[in-house]
Amino acid sequence: ALKLVTIGGGSSYTPELIEGFIKRQNELPIKEIWLVDIPAGEEKLRIVGAMAQRMVKKAGLDWQIHLTLDRRQALKDADFVSTQFRVGLLNARIKDERIPASYGMLGQETNGAGGIFKAFRTIPVILDIVADMKELCPDAWLVNFTNPSGMITEAIATYGKWDKVIGLCNVPVGAMLSEPPLIGKTLDQLTYKFAGIDHFHWHKVWDETGKNVTMDIVDKMYSDDAGLPKNIFDVPFYRAQLDDMQMIPCGYHRYYYREEEMLAHALEEYEGVGTRAQQVKRLEHELFELYKDPNLAVKPPQLAERGGAHYSDAACEAIASLYANKKNHMVVSTVNHGAIPDLPEDHVVEVSAQIGAAGAIPMAFGALPPAERGWLQLMKNMELVICEAGVTGNYGLALQAFTMNPVIRSGHTAKRILDELLIAHQDHLPQF
Ligand code: NAD
Ligand code: G6P
Ligand code: MN
Ligand code: MN
Repeated sequence: ALKLVTIGGGSSYTPELIEGFIKRQNELPIKEIWLVDIPAGEEKLRIVGAMAQRMVKKAGLDWQIHLTLDRRQALKDADFVSTQFRVGLLNARIKDERIPASYGMLGQETNGAGGIFKAFRTIPVILDIVADMKELCPDAWLVNFTNPSGMITEAIATYGKWDKVIGLCNVPVGAMLSEPPLIGKTLDQLTYKFAGIDHFHWHKVWDETGKNVTMDIVDKMYSDDAGLPKNIFDVPFYRAQLDDMQMIPCGYHRYYYREEEMLAHALEEYEGVGTRAQQVKRLEHELFELYKDPNLAVKPPQLAERGGAHYSDAACEAIASLYANKKNHMVVSTVNHGAIPDLPEDHVVEVSAQIGAAGAIPMAFGALPPAERGWLQLMKNMELVICEAGVTGNYGLALQAFTMNPVIRSGHTAKRILDELLIAHQDHLPQF
């Protein structure tokens, strides 16, 4: 019987996770699910936790749903630990987005200065969690969803020295859900291959006869905006660039390929309706009002307005695949092991992999053309710089990360943003 632990259990996404476990009740012999949070999130944990208990009861299952602020008690003898926490909650994200925007630069959850600071705040916490796991559940798998997911997975593997980790994102799930119907196919007729890093990967697709159908999907994407998460503004890619690439970039590539337009849109929101974090705060409030209803026991449709919709299809499926040795295809953050020869073998990439009891076995993607290789090497090396700065608190290295980041214009404004974010977030940055 399985003991599952979710850290950041007070997330408004938790009903989706519970729904994912309920769907897989025949694959996962679950006995207990422990939802862990901290005092600042206790009210959320109580509300969404009660909702989770109603969902399980409605499904006729006898799973115990424990709500706790005691992480160590939860981790004791756990089989699977998933992480979906946000250090500093949404107020910290508001600062990540508003401070760069106030200087005319991009503030975004996983990109630009905001993404770098989300990593800086999260790294000390995740390394503490890994230290607890070494002591309390040394055989457990860690399924990380906390953003920036790729960098956090890198920190777990490289600095936590914990190899039973899989990093996840809903973006590949979204692509594989939305694209097959565009060309009149089902997912099982198609073969997908992804490579890159989290929020910076590309993919190619073949049909059941072996024909490469990547550009057939691209043709349709110009009429339907396929698979773009709700949090990303839809500026189209230049078709000529895609024709050269012969791959489908992920939604987040817009911040780099159409930087000017994405920045203009972000600044417009900053001046008007508020940054994405402010919009999400309103949505979160609405969701928690719904969760308070003692008669509600199914995931409300409003949750689909969050960018992370469908993430449980990744999180719960990864757990089911590891446990039941399913050996199925999933796109995960895992150690490269040569799948992308343009990147170091011993660092984390996001790739197509076979997921089973032995973990993630990445599929070889092969070398990338110079344009994509250049971008990817810059972005991966920037991640390594961010992780080292996040562990050591080295200010010069943090400034190096800012300088490398393509969507942060280097110079005195960048340094002011760095300094201001360091002060704004000082309560969550023990390493600096
Ligand atoms: P949220 O603001 O609701 O935070 C979730 C919970 O984490 C809160 O209840 C909070 O109190 C708790 N928390 C904060 N610090 C904690 C700690 N040290 N220990 C335990 N719990 C702690 O966040 P959300 O909007 O639900 O998002 C949760 C996380 O999932 C974020 O990191 C977000 O970036 C990430 N996410 C990832 C993807 C992906 O594709 N990988 C998609 C969506 C969201
Ligand atoms: C996505 C991503 C996440 C991201 C999130 C933001 O699509 O894959 O990694 O951070 O959505 O969504 P939100 O609703 O919080 O802006
Ligand atoms: Mn993601
Ligand atoms: Mn820069």
